[in-house]
Amino acid sequence: MNAPPPLTTPRAAADPDPTRAIIAECLRETRIRYTSKGNTFFRPRLRGVNYMQVGKSKIIDSPFTITIEWLFEQFRRLRNGWNRLLDELFPRSPALPEGHRDSRLVGRLVFAAERGYGPPIHNMHLEFWGRTYWLAWRKIAEGRTDADGCFALPFPLRAARALSIRSLNLEIQKTTRAYFRDGAPHFHFDLFRAVPVAKSDLIGMDYNLRTIALDYWLYRPAATTPRAVVDEQAGTPEIYSQGRNDALIEQATPIEITKTKHLEQIDLLPGTLTIEEIEADYPINLTRCIERRLPGYTRGDDWFGERMMNGMNRGCFVPDETRPGHFWMRYFGVCWYEINDVYALPDVAILYRLKDDGLPLPVEIRLTGRLSRGDDDPFYCRAFTAADPEAWLQAKRVARVAGAFCTEVEEHFSGTHLNAEQYAVAAYRNLRLNPVAGLLLPHLKEVSLIDHTADSGLIRGYIPTATALTYRGLLQRTRDILGVQDWRGWRPMTPISAAHSCAKAETLFWDVLGAYVDAFFAEHEAGIKAHWGEIHRFADDLVTHSVPVFVTAARDAPPPDPRYRELAAERLKHYARQYAFDPDLPRETVDGELKAVSRITAARTWDEAGERDWRNLKDACRYIIMQATYMHTWINEHQYDDLGEVRYSCGGLRFGDAPSGVMGPESDDAIAPDLTRSTEMLFFTNFLSRTEYGFITRNEEGDVNPLLIRLLEEKREAFRALGVDIDSIESRTNI
Ligand SMILES: [Fe+2]
Repeated sequence: MNAPPPLTTPRAAADPDPTRAIIAECLRETRIRYTSKGNTFFRPRLRGVNYMQVGKSKIIDSPFTITIEWLFEQFRRLRNGWNRLLDELFPRSPALPEGHRDSRLVGRLVFAAERGYGPPIHNMHLEFWGRTYWLAWRKIAEGRTDADGCFALPFPLRAARALSIRSLNLEIQKTTRAYFRDGAPHFHFDLFRAVPVAKSDLIGMDYNLRTIALDYWLYRPAATTPRAVVDEQAGTPEIYSQGRNDALIEQATPIEITKTKHLEQIDLLPGTLTIEEIEADYPINLTRCIERRLPGYTRGDDWFGERMMNGMNRGCFVPDETRPGHFWMRYFGVCWYEINDVYALPDVAILYRLKDDGLPLPVEIRLTGRLSRGDDDPFYCRAFTAADPEAWLQAKRVARVAGAFCTEVEEHFSGTHLNAEQYAVAAYRNLRLNPVAGLLLPHLKEVSLIDHTADSGLIRGYIPTATALTYRGLLQRTRDILGVQDWRGWRPMTPISAAHSCAKAETLFWDVLGAYVDAFFAEHEAGIKAHWGEIHRFADDLVTHSVPVFVTAARDAPPPDPRYRELAAERLKHYARQYAFDPDLPRETVDGELKAVSRITAARTWDEAGERDWRNLKDACRYIIMQATYMHTWINEHQYDDLGEVRYSCGGLRFGDAPSGVMGPESDDAIAPDLTRSTEMLFFTNFLSRTEYGFITRNEEGDVNPLLIRLLEEKREAFRALGVDIDSIESRTNI
């Protein structure tokens, strides 16, 4: 996201308080903007998102390679231009041939499966085309598959067997994207596969193409969560828009070059580089900016509380039952996941007292688990307060780092990326004629692609080397967290005070979405009901492929030690509040697994459905758009604010060599991330925060419903008062 809102407390900008004025200035100064750099022909550049690496990405920097790339680009443009010319020279007339339709092209479309055939593909658009010897197109027939995936396209045999026809193809069309024109959703179809039909085989009656299995939006069989098969060699289910790729290349290339320079220096002369020098090579972030003008302020209690409440973490406050005005915030540590022996990740419990201004002040921090290599009790708890200033400073840092880890891995990757992808796969597989496709697809596009890139770059690459969890541990943890995500009953965070601007803004956006979804459903009621079968299939896929509710499946269960069982119960209770997930709702069991995603409808047609199903669908749509837009935007764009200074916060602190472990000063290089991880962290936080593209109000690709834009514009000032710039809210999760 390239224009993060000036997030702070609502009163920041106008307050005469000099501290607030400095914070407001730094927010303005470090705000990310996306600007074109003009002529960039011989500037080094990245090839695209999929070329991003945790180490050195494939940068094109030699003039020879740049020229070859340029020639290739010209070839591609020429080829596209040629194809456009051919389209103009040989237009495809939509008219069907005259004559008695005495023959039929029949067959069945199903999803490919590892063994046998998968379920049928309904409502796929089909066109039967002939090509003459002089390359003109002749439409012979068109239609679509039925609920069983079957099709029977009637056509005049004479038209198909005309002497002028040289070849025949059945074209299977896929919905590439939805866009809005004149207030109504339209769908763009592209050829998915052409099936040749031998002219000589058409001898009357039915010509049977039998069952055709398509590699169309398949679920990845071995994935731990519902994921799409994305195979760069065999073909991806969708592609990035050109604008998205351009934004990436424009913004990411300079920081990629910075990272490459650091990695080479670390290889050759590691002693010549420091964390501070690495930071100085990246754009300044919010905390470094404030530190420069108010030394020590960002390590103080006020800033700690403010950022935990209204920063990237947007922490979950649980009232202390015995002390009014006091709240607990929890971040769970290594738990029972597979870990390495390099980084600490204790359980963190922070007690806050609300100040008169409504912002929280930390008064106690409890760290449970290993803080040093010498510790061997994962349940040993230590409590810290400001009474011991040195230890208090260190405990706040450990808490901040644990919060950053949980926010990134759980809320960001699992709660928004993986969560949105499970809805994306089900939507693309099933929604074609139902207007709900126009409502959801613009917000679900490209998430399968960015998650695929994150698999290698982050989940398999960077995070296991920069935090306590291994790759296996991360897979299990993200699956577990997806097990507490459900559309049913979800609601935004409840503000705990007037200064809780993050929760207020969340509610405001949720209200906008409520009005938008209501209006959309009212306008498209007939279409939604007429194609209810697609909603049934959508709901089916969601439930069938959903992960189980948190630790209810045998394979996800915590270790038998009762302390781990107790920890699992504590986590579920906390997550239920954090993610507004009700574990006690009646849910479906499929193949012995209690599924986390609730069923939207069990009715195959609207006649069998009821008002409850209607409400369910509306609730689910509102939730899906909320997660894929606002909830993702919040964390993604604030990463650089809160994770742009290595010694302040990072993915993990190392145990180091001293008996005190992570409870050491910030200056201790043995516990801070090493140089490689330092530059990689700043690279990733810059990369993720700066390369955003696809904003609701900018509507770069004409795929955001103007009604949503209008409803959001009406609240522009209300959002601004809460420190949120609506122009920075992304329309989809694609970075
Ligand atoms: Fe993201």
